[in-house]
Amino acid sequence: MKTEKQVRIGMIGARGRGTIAKYWHQPEGRSIVVGAADIYPERLQEFKDDVNPDAFVTTDYRELLAREDIDAIAVTSPDFCHEEHAVAALKAGKHVFCEKPLAITVEGCDNILNAWKESGKHLMVGFNMRYMNMYRTMKEIVDSGVIGEIKAVWVRHFVGWGGYFYFHDWHANSKNSTGLLLQKGSHDIDIIHWITGRYAMKVSAFGSLDFYGGDKSNDLTCPSCEERTTCTEASPGRLIECAFREEVNVEDNNMVIMELEGGIKASYLQCHFTPDYQRNYTFIGTEGRMENNEMEDKVYVWTRKSNTERELADRVYQIKEAKGSHGGADPNICKDFVDMILHGKEPIATPLAGRMSVAVGCAATESIRQGGGVVPVSPIPNLDAAAILSEG
Ligand SMILES: NC(=O)c1ccc[n+]([C@@H]2O[C@H](COP(=O)([O-])OP(=O)(O)OC[C@H]3O[C@@H](n4cnc5c(N)ncnc54)[C@H](O)[C@@H]3O)[C@@H](O)[C@H]2O)c1
Repeated sequence: MKTEKQVRIGMIGARGRGTIAKYWHQPEGRSIVVGAADIYPERLQEFKDDVNPDAFVTTDYRELLAREDIDAIAVTSPDFCHEEHAVAALKAGKHVFCEKPLAITVEGCDNILNAWKESGKHLMVGFNMRYMNMYRTMKEIVDSGVIGEIKAVWVRHFVGWGGYFYFHDWHANSKNSTGLLLQKGSHDIDIIHWITGRYAMKVSAFGSLDFYGGDKSNDLTCPSCEERTTCTEASPGRLIECAFREEVNVEDNNMVIMELEGGIKASYLQCHFTPDYQRNYTFIGTEGRMENNEMEDKVYVWTRKSNTERELADRVYQIKEAKGSHGGADPNICKDFVDMILHGKEPIATPLAGRMSVAVGCAATESIRQGGGVVPVSPIPNLDAAAILSEG
């Protein structure tokens, strides 16, 4: 017999990222996935085959929202749909899990935050990096004070597989994603904010499209291309639009510098045509330096010579493996969503954090496209004054 209420969840976006439904679908547990909306009927069928054959499915997400037997909605549709889907779900009285980035504009984020405050429901952003053992460990180290007060953060993001995941579908056009600093970098900008405990206030960025894009027809797909056996970027999977098509207009090589509250300096470098996939973070504090190595699953901490008996040790942390996708982060973020609804647990990833990483991504993209000048980040909105937000 169940001892507590079971949260009934509907997905908007049935496949792709929507496959995290498997972590929520526990018919005998605390949550169950009972419905899905998607614009492609075949994906709804895959969802039924894979997750719940008895689920309600529809190609019109409004029919999903109209159902009174659904408590919560997971928005796992593409970025450009998040604002519409999240606002509508909150207005329909549902709790919402919204994938990152919260929206593709600051205004879009503020519309979601307004709808959230007005709804009285719970809202959480899919910042699963905050649930990865590697980044939780780094946060704990900084919070312990062992490397002192953080003054500098350097992040290098080698996006091997960038060509496949970001240039063979909707991601590659700025009308859908604004840009990849916002799309992909929203995670990293958020981790910089989270670990330092400070938001970026101004940015300056350079970037360009140095590898992908070109003059191929927008209709060209890899399976129908004459060059499919020789092209280095021929698609290995279900994303098949040509990576060298004309409409591709998001940068694949990006560099941002930021000044955070309290004068912390941070940089984020993102390249989509590297052979390897890894993130390398360095935090420099007044008493030491910390750096991760994702290939080795290690975090290194070096402390400064202090000339006192406090001088103890440099340390190497071996990050433990965790079960589940994204290094065990996905089952945990899904669990937190249910805990938030059932027990009011504050999520590690807040809606405001979602909004602020988008604000930085937008400011940095604007800087790139205007030649690299300094662009202020849209400041933190007053969340208790939803009415003011909607006027602004
Ligand atoms: N947190 C993470 O680790 C992580 C990982 C991957 C993707 N994401 C995010 O998840 C979202 C989806 O990414 P994806 O790569 O799965 O995209 P996708 O293109 O595979 O789309 C996901 C699903 O949404 C459906 N869909 C498309 N348009 C729709 C619409 N108008 N209404 C309803 N459903 C629609 C698609 O058919 C698909 O089933 C993105 O915002 C992405 O940033 C997050």
